Amino acid sequence: MANYIFCSFALHKTKIAMLTRIKELQQEIEGIVAKSVDEAEELRIKYLSKKGEISKLFEEFRNVSAEQKKEIGQAVNTLKEFALEKINLLKEGLQEEKSAVSGIDLTLPGEPMKLGTRHPISIVKNEILDIFKKLGFVVSEGPEIEDDWHVFSALNFPEEHPARDMQDTFFIQRNPDVLLRTHTSSVQVHDMETMKPPIRTITPGRVFRNEAISYRAHCMFHQVEGLYIDENVSFADLKQTLLYYAKELFGEDAEIRMRPSYFPFTEPSAEVDVSCSICSGKGCNVCKYSGWLEIMGCGMVDPNVLEASGIDSKKYTGYAFGMGVERIAMLKFGINDLRLYFENDVRFLQQFEAAN
Ligand code: PHE
Repeated sequence: MANYIFCSFALHKTKIAMLTRIKELQQEIEGIVAKSVDEAEELRIKYLSKKGEISKLFEEFRNVSAEQKKEIGQAVNTLKEFALEKINLLKEGLQEEKSAVSGIDLTLPGEPMKLGTRHPISIVKNEILDIFKKLGFVVSEGPEIEDDWHVFSALNFPEEHPARDMQDTFFIQRNPDVLLRTHTSSVQVHDMETMKPPIRTITPGRVFRNEAISYRAHCMFHQVEGLYIDENVSFADLKQTLLYYAKELFGEDAEIRMRPSYFPFTEPSAEVDVSCSICSGKGCNVCKYSGWLEIMGCGMVDPNVLEASGIDSKKYTGYAFGMGVERIAMLKFGINDLRLYFENDVRFLQQFEAAN
């Protein structure tokens, strides 16, 4: 019994002592001033750091009896919040003073951050890739510096074919076996050498041809080429795939037509035209009043090409197609001069979709 009385008396004393200390600190903090941010920080340490005055109260709080915990707990928390607010206000005031002194007006509106825009070639290239990815094509890329085998020989170019001529191809270091690829079909050769059918790849990349630069020709441009090899692949598969592609890219009303053509690596070969999206086929100066625009070359992979890369041409057939990205971007955006793509004029570039 005696023990109990002593105990409760002691606890009562703790409560009074704590409430008195809280009141003292409250008054003290009310009156604090700081002349510098450093002084304010010292005050924060004095009251609010781990060993600060308020933290000491939290330690003593452990000795408070259960029924008094609520009252004292609230008082200590209120004191802590009061101190935090007071010291933050002091700091803010001091910082504002400091910036006013250094001439910075923090109330001025900020300068908007200028976002870059995506290059029209990238926009169109990504759009083309997305369409073929949906059809199950896998993106494959390869080197821009190539050998004769991958650019020409494996693709069934006869020895005397004019495309091997110095006129068209950039050779490196006078070595006729080291050259800049003139088309991305070279990547398809790498794919056929390393993959097993079914092969379904889509290949974007830069290509180089030794041509005089004008509004309609450049020595460097971008291609996207596709390749599909499997059992029983037919020309009908090719035509249907390209029709789907044209509708996705130019809209539901787009139509395609195929004209016989020649490429060493495909047989039969065709040029593909799409109905002019500018005049809806009625005839305008972009389509030269024909209603059609040429967009790509295509054909069934020549059996010689399959065999050159070790694919059994009796078992497998395939189709391939290839297009210039610059040309498609010209049609999509109404750009009339190829050189604009590579001049880096921001007035031209900033008209396109913002990068995000
Ligand atoms: N490689 C051809 C070119 O550069 C395009 C093409 C690819 C044609 C595949 C037919 C098949 O013009």
